[in-house]
Amino acid sequence: TRKTTIVDIKARKKTGPPITMLTAYDYPMALLVDRGGIDMILVGDSLGMVVLGYPDTISVTMDEMVHHTKAVSRVAEHALVVSDLPFGAYNVSIEKAVENANRIMKEGRADAVKLEGGRSMASVVEAVVRSGTPVQGHIGLTPQTASALGGFKVQGKSAEAARTLIDDAKALEAAGCFSIVLEAIPAPIAQMVTEALAIPTIGIGAGVHCDGQVLVIHDMVGLFDRFTPKFVKQYAKVSDIIASAISAYADEVKNRRFPEERHSFTMKTDELDKLEK
Ligand code: KIV
Ligand code: NA
Repeated sequence: TRKTTIVDIKARKKTGPPITMLTAYDYPMALLVDRGGIDMILVGDSLGMVVLGYPDTISVTMDEMVHHTKAVSRVAEHALVVSDLPFGAYNVSIEKAVENANRIMKEGRADAVKLEGGRSMASVVEAVVRSGTPVQGHIGLTPQTASALGGFKVQGKSAEAARTLIDDAKALEAAGCFSIVLEAIPAPIAQMVTEALAIPTIGIGAGVHCDGQVLVIHDMVGLFDRFTPKFVKQYAKVSDIIASAISAYADEVKNRRFPEERHSFTMKTDELDKLEK
């Protein structure tokens, strides 16, 4: 296995097959994702909700993103590692955006960053790319600003909103993004955006015509029960497996059926005899 590069990802727009991307936030999960041959690992700020128990992604800090990116990048031998810049890390000033992008590359050893927003973020994207950090865009439903969008709902349903999305995507491409995540937009609009760009689109709730797909791994393996959007396909129900292991363990401990002899250590009887004297 060779490390996936930005050039590899961009080339897939023409050559296919569709690009695969999943989130991971720690060593064991990143290991499974990387060994599974997934093209890109996203250390998403969904970290806040699925791992840290925050109600949303707003509270996630740079320190937290760097901490988890370190764990993921140590494992990723094949996948390109993309880390989210959290709210407050790039939307304050261009200087701060460049500084935080540098930090997540240098300390976290990410391969690229992702940030939310359309044309209003173009100058930020341009500065970060010029400073040497590849940037993935993210438009449509942008969780960091979901309240202003009217909540967690599909975006770009009117012709006017769809045109705005297409213009935003073009602005991000012109600013230097190497790919763009399209979240929760009608499939025909995602197809139009995909056809309008020379860089790949990565869809989540954006239909089958995107150049790739991304899901939050805790959602797709069934490890997070609080809320699962319509666009998630649950490929497994890992939480049921863990829950039954926990209750079996608790039951066996209480009934002295665990540990068994094979889980225990012994010592020579003559040494034990010395103790009894
Ligand atoms: O944080 C995240 O997991 C994301 C994906 C949903 C694209 O941004
Ligand atoms: Na995110």
